[in-house]
Amino acid sequence: MAARSAILGAGHYVPSKVVTNDDLTKLIPSTSDAWIQERTGIRERRIIEHDGIGASDLAVPAAKMAIERAGLTIHDIDAIIFATLSPDLTFPGSGVLLQHKLGMPQIPALDVRNQCSGFLYSLSVADAWIRAGVYKHVLIVGAEVHSTGLDLSDRGRDVSVLFGDGAGAVVVGRSPDPERGVLNVVIRSDGVGAHDLMVECPASKYMPRITKEMIDEGRIWPKMNGKLVFRWATEKMPEVAIESMEKAGVNVDDIDLFIPHQANMRINQFVAMKLNIPQEKIVHNIDRYGNTTAATIPIGISESLGEGRLKPGMTVLFAGFGAGFTWGASVVRW
Ligand code: ACO
Repeated sequence: MAARSAILGAGHYVPSKVVTNDDLTKLIPSTSDAWIQERTGIRERRIIEHDGIGASDLAVPAAKMAIERAGLTIHDIDAIIFATLSPDLTFPGSGVLLQHKLGMPQIPALDVRNQCSGFLYSLSVADAWIRAGVYKHVLIVGAEVHSTGLDLSDRGRDVSVLFGDGAGAVVVGRSPDPERGVLNVVIRSDGVGAHDLMVECPASKYMPRITKEMIDEGRIWPKMNGKLVFRWATEKMPEVAIESMEKAGVNVDDIDLFIPHQANMRINQFVAMKLNIPQEKIVHNIDRYGNTTAATIPIGISESLGEGRLKPGMTVLFAGFGAGFTWGASVVRW
C-alpha cells in the first residue's frame, strides 16, 4: 500500500484573558448571556491580553507543543502551513513570522486563507506533500486574533459575540503504519457566498484602500448573513462528511470521534443528528473558546489527545464550513 500521512502530534494555545458573555453585554448592551448561550452554545472566549500580540505569537506555543508531542525538534520540520483569516500583517503572511520566531532554518512557509476551512485545506496540502515524498514533516498551524477586528457595538452583535482568539497546531508526517493515518481529505468551495460572510475593507479594488467613510460605515468589520450560512453549513458539512467516509471505505458506525469546526454548537448538533453520530462522540470547545476559525479543529485534536479521549486505532471524522464559502471533511485512522 502507498505511504499514508499521519498526524504525529498536536498542540494548542489560548490567551489567558477570559471574556464571558456577561462581560460582552457591558460593551454590547443589546445582547445577553441567555441569547448567546441558547443560539450558539458559547459561554466565554479568550482574547489577547494586550495590544501587539498577533496570530503568529499565539502560534509559537501551539507549534512547540505539537512538535514536542510528535517526539521531534524544530529542526525536523521541513515546511510550515499557516492557516489564518487574521494574519499579523496584510503581507507578508504569518508563516514566515512563525518560521523566524521559532528560529527555524530557511524552510518554506505557506499561508492558507480559507477561513474556517483553513485547517482542512492545509491538511489536504500537507497530506499530498507527504504522500508524494516532497517533505517528511509538515507543521500546520491554525491561529487567529479576532478580538482586534470585531465591531463591539450593537451594530455588530450578530458576529462579534461568536469569535475568540486561539491557536492549534499539528505535525503531519509519514504514517508508521500503512493501515493508519489520513485516509482522505475532501475540500470544496462556492464563491456564490463570498459576500454573505466577509470583511470588505481595506480592499485592493478601492483607491485608496481604506477611507474614513469606510470606517464610519462599519465596512471594516465582518458581515455575515447568519441564517444563510447556518443553512449552508448544515447541508454541506453532512454532505462532504459522507463523501469523505465513502472514499475512506468507512461508515458512520465506524466513527469513534467527530471533531467538527466550532462555529455554532447548534450547527454541530444538527450535523451530527443528520449523520446519525451520537452526541457523546462530538468534540466541543466552542463553549469555552467561541469560534477560533482555523484553530478550532487542531485545538479539538490537541485537547482530545490531552484528555485521553483520542486513542490509537480510533477512526476520527473532521468537518468544517466557513467563509468563501469553503468547506471540507477528512477521515483519519489514528
Ligand atoms: N444578541 C441578541 N440578539 C441578537 C444577536 C445578539 N448577539 N444577534 C442577533 N440578534 C437578534 C437578531 O437581530 C434577530 O432579532 P429580530 O428577530 O428582532 O430581527 C434575532 O436575534 C434572531 O436573529 P437570527 O439571525 O435569526 O438568529 P439565529 O438563530 O439565526 O442565530 C447566528 C444567529 C448565531 C449568527 C446563526 O445564524 C449562526 O450561527 N449562523 C452561522 C454562523 C457560522 O457558521 N459562521 C461561519 C463561520 S465564520 C467564518 O467562516 C469566518
